[in-house]
Amino acid sequence: MKNRLTIAIQKNGRLSDQSRDLIKKSGINFTAKGDKLLAKSNNLPIDILFVRSDDIPSLVSNGDADIAIVGENILIEKSLFKKTNINKVLELGFSKCRLSFAAPQNFSMKSVKNKKIATSYPNTVKKYLLDNKITANVVNIHGSVELTPYIGMADCICDLVSSGATLEANNLKELEVILESQAVLIQNKKLNKTKTLIAEKVISRMNGVINAIESKYVMLNADVKNISAICKLLPGSESPTIIPLENNQKVAIHALCQEPIFWETMEKLKSNGASSILVMPVEKIL
Ligand code: PRP
Repeated sequence: MKNRLTIAIQKNGRLSDQSRDLIKKSGINFTAKGDKLLAKSNNLPIDILFVRSDDIPSLVSNGDADIAIVGENILIEKSLFKKTNINKVLELGFSKCRLSFAAPQNFSMKSVKNKKIATSYPNTVKKYLLDNKITANVVNIHGSVELTPYIGMADCICDLVSSGATLEANNLKELEVILESQAVLIQNKKLNKTKTLIAEKVISRMNGVINAIESKYVMLNADVKNISAICKLLPGSESPTIIPLENNQKVAIHALCQEPIFWETMEKLKSNGASSILVMPVEKIL
C-alpha cells in the first residue's frame, strides 16, 4: 500500500459517525460494509481503517496508518512519557469533552491529595499530579470507572465528561477539569512523497469542511450612507462585496462571515438600516 494513503478512524464510539461524515464531506467516497474493518475509496487512492480509538496513536506512530482522526484525550494519554512519530495537524471541532476529577456528591472532598483515583487515563493523571506536585494513588481501570468509589476501589475518579449525564446518573460531582479535548487529525511524520501529496489534499479539504461549519454567506440591502456601519457589524468577514442597485441610494452587500451569525447580529444589522437580510449556509471553503 505504498501509494495509497490509509486513514484510521474509530470503528464504534463517540467519534465514529462524525469521522465518517467528515471523510465523505471531504469528497472521499467509500462504502463501509457491515463489520468490514477496511474500506477502499473508489475515487481517490485512500483506504479507511476502522479500529479501536486506543490503538490509533500507535498505528499512526508505527506507520501502519498514515493519518487518523482521534480524540485528543487518547492522543495525549498514549503519547505521554514516550517518543512518537506523530504530528497533530488539525483540530476538528467535534467530540468536545473534558477529562475531570469527580467524587461522590456526599464526599466533602476538596482536593485529590493523598486520595485513590480510578481512571482509564493513568498517564494523563500522573502527569497532572507531577506538574502540580500532588501525591496521590492512581488506579488503572478500563471501563465502568464511575462505579469504583462505590465499591471501595477508589476515593474519586478521573474520567471524560461531555454532557455530564453519566456523572449525574452516578451521583458524582465534577471537582476539577484537567484536560479539554476534541477530535484531532494526526499524521505520521515520515510519509513518502506520494502519500504526503495525498495527505495534503485530504488535510486541505478537511480544513475547508471545518471552516465552513460556522461560516455563513450573508446578503443584504442597505442605504449607501450606512455601508460602513453595516460592514463593521458583519463578524469575521474579510472584505464585503458592495454591489450598486437600480436605486442609486442603495447597495447590496454580500459577505462571507467566518463566525456564527446570531439573531442579535441580524437585529443590529436591521436597526442600522439593513433590509432583506439573508443568511445562508456554506458547504466548503478553499
Ligand atoms: C465516556 C466517559 C463517560 C461518558 C461521559 O465514555 O467514560 O462514561 O463518556 O459522557 P457524558 O458526560 O455525556 O455522560 P465513552 O462514551 O467515551 O465510552 P468509554 O466508556 O469507552 O470511554
